Amino acid sequence: MIQISNLTKVFNKGTINEKIAIDHLHLTINDSDFICIIGANGSGKSTLLNCLSGAMICEEGNIVMNGKNITLNSQDRRAHEIGYLFQDPMAGTAPHMSVEENLAMAFKNGSWLSRIKEKDRAFFKEKLKELDMGLEDKLKMEVGVLSGGMRQALTLVMNTLKKPSLLLLDEHTAALDPQSADKVLQLTKKTVEEKDLTCLMVTHNMQTALDLGNRLIMMHEGRIILDLNKEEKEKMSVEDLVRLFKKHAEKDLNNDRMLLL
Ligand SMILES: Nc1ncnc2c1ncn2[C@@H]1O[C@H](COP(=O)(O)OP(=O)(O)OP(=O)(O)O)[C@@H](O)[C@H]1O
Ligand SMILES: [Mg+2]
Repeated sequence: MIQISNLTKVFNKGTINEKIAIDHLHLTINDSDFICIIGANGSGKSTLLNCLSGAMICEEGNIVMNGKNITLNSQDRRAHEIGYLFQDPMAGTAPHMSVEENLAMAFKNGSWLSRIKEKDRAFFKEKLKELDMGLEDKLKMEVGVLSGGMRQALTLVMNTLKKPSLLLLDEHTAALDPQSADKVLQLTKKTVEEKDLTCLMVTHNMQTALDLGNRLIMMHEGRIILDLNKEEKEKMSVEDLVRLFKKHAEKDLNNDRMLLL
């Protein structure tokens, strides 16, 4: 279980550009929760994920994960417990290393330099085969030459080889073509379900937010303004969500990244 209490993140504090990106936010994430997060541009979704991963340290509040207060822990210290996929498919892998070297690096938490053992190679092959993208035959290939969809699928495998306590996905399919995006989304669903992961997924696609996961959160100006459970979510349509969204965010109506699919 992850308990976030009173979390506050302010950028450029005390200057004319001061921005409260996360505003005294409270959230309890239960084990096996798969939460989709929606909200307008600038509502604080990425900042929330950054505070959870340790990429940003918050000014106020606490993050307690499985009974441990991790609020001030560095990103490095949290990395073995928290997986993170970004929008940019190039961000999660090392382009000049091979597929198997990237996997070994993730599997061994950085100490991959010793020769990759046959046992590990067989394990990697098995995991890649599950993706059904032919990556199991590309173990020696440099990751930089793979398509964005393949790289994002590989990043997903790297982040879940060892079960993380929390998986963070920040619009991780937004930069992919529709077919690749759909493939990576299906792989995400399968991985989260099969491994029984606890996951936060940011998306601008409201239909995806309704279809996936057991909870849906809407953010606005650094706060959570809607938190729906599975039953409540099932009764919702995209139109209902848009109506709720409009109620809270009149000024963000021209948000062209909010895809109404
Ligand atoms: N490093 C930073 N320095 C200053 N301001 C920042 C920084 N990162 C984010 N912000 C500001 O904090 C607010 C929240 O940004 P954030 O990136 O979390 O929004 P978001 O909900 O992820 O938006 P999007 O849908 O565009 O990805 C915005 O006003 C943004 O401009
Ligand atoms: Mg963002």
